[in-house]
Amino acid sequence: MADKIVLDLFRFDQAVDEVPHRDRVEIDFPETSTVLDALEYAKAEVDGSISFRRSCRSAICGSCSMNINGTTGLACKTPLKTVLRDDRSVKLDPMPNFEPMKDLVVHMDPFWDRYSRLKPYLQPADKDSDHERERRVSPEDMKKLVAVANCVMCATCYSLCPVVSVDPSFAGPAAIAYAYRFIEDVRDSKRKERVAQISDDYLWLCAHCYACSYCPKHVEPQDDIIAVKRISIEEGLTNAPGPRHALVVAKTIKQSGMLNENEVIIGTVGRFNFKGIASIMPLGLRMAAKGKVPPLFMKPVDKVSEIRTIYEALEVPVG
Ligand code: SF4
Ligand code: SF4
Ligand code: FES
Repeated sequence: MADKIVLDLFRFDQAVDEVPHRDRVEIDFPETSTVLDALEYAKAEVDGSISFRRSCRSAICGSCSMNINGTTGLACKTPLKTVLRDDRSVKLDPMPNFEPMKDLVVHMDPFWDRYSRLKPYLQPADKDSDHERERRVSPEDMKKLVAVANCVMCATCYSLCPVVSVDPSFAGPAAIAYAYRFIEDVRDSKRKERVAQISDDYLWLCAHCYACSYCPKHVEPQDDIIAVKRISIEEGLTNAPGPRHALVVAKTIKQSGMLNENEVIIGTVGRFNFKGIASIMPLGLRMAAKGKVPPLFMKPVDKVSEIRTIYEALEVPVG
């Protein structure tokens, strides 16, 4: 059964428009269909100039990612009835964190650039020609890669990431998850190089806000980011503020059960980084003037031994 639906569309053509505008396109269409079906219908029956990317219509190709009522997702996987507002409209915009090209189509170059920098292919230690048989992976080793292998590079996570929006040099969640996919692949020989490269692409800027957990393919890139940070510490890549911060936070909590902010600041800047320490002195003096300097020595909380037991169970690295 057809229902009255309004597509509230972002319209912009970078070739001719200086500023975007919105169109409200009314269609008679069943609300049991998907957002992509409604867009296809509007393009075919109302306005052929409406532009959007799509291919598979089955949540496989990753091309129909767009902003639907303020949240990014795959149009072909989103039932209309779940997103219709009270006035029976749905608001469609291009993905945030990307430059709009035409209507819902964006320039994907920054996203693909982060991905191609990973060298996203296996680099085994020897040549394929040296092998008589395929390189096999045990079920146990494969388990680590199953979730990330579902990534369809739709960039939903990248568009939702607040760190990407303030610092475009950040690799973004999908690239780090894909780095993890090769770092943990037992057939690959470039583990350390890959970890070093993704660390250089500002791995440690991730703020662990979990916005990227809204992944339409349940890849959970936020978990892969934590794993890659841990691997980078195991590989000895600790001479940077990000890993130093993680290690010293873990250390002070293990010691006393609480965050020792003095030690965290010094440990993050670097104990022997005299220039860095001098640069934070004005902040320290301002805090002292306001009576905000934390105590120099912290008495361990009651039952701190239980906290230490958790550290041991989780094998938490400390600085
Ligand atoms: S991790 Fe998920 S949201 Fe991000 S690109 Fe892959 S499939 Fe899309
Ligand atoms: S968890 Fe990290 S990568 Fe994911 S959205 Fe938040 S800041 Fe971005
Ligand atoms: S059209 Fe392929 S993922 Fe939606």
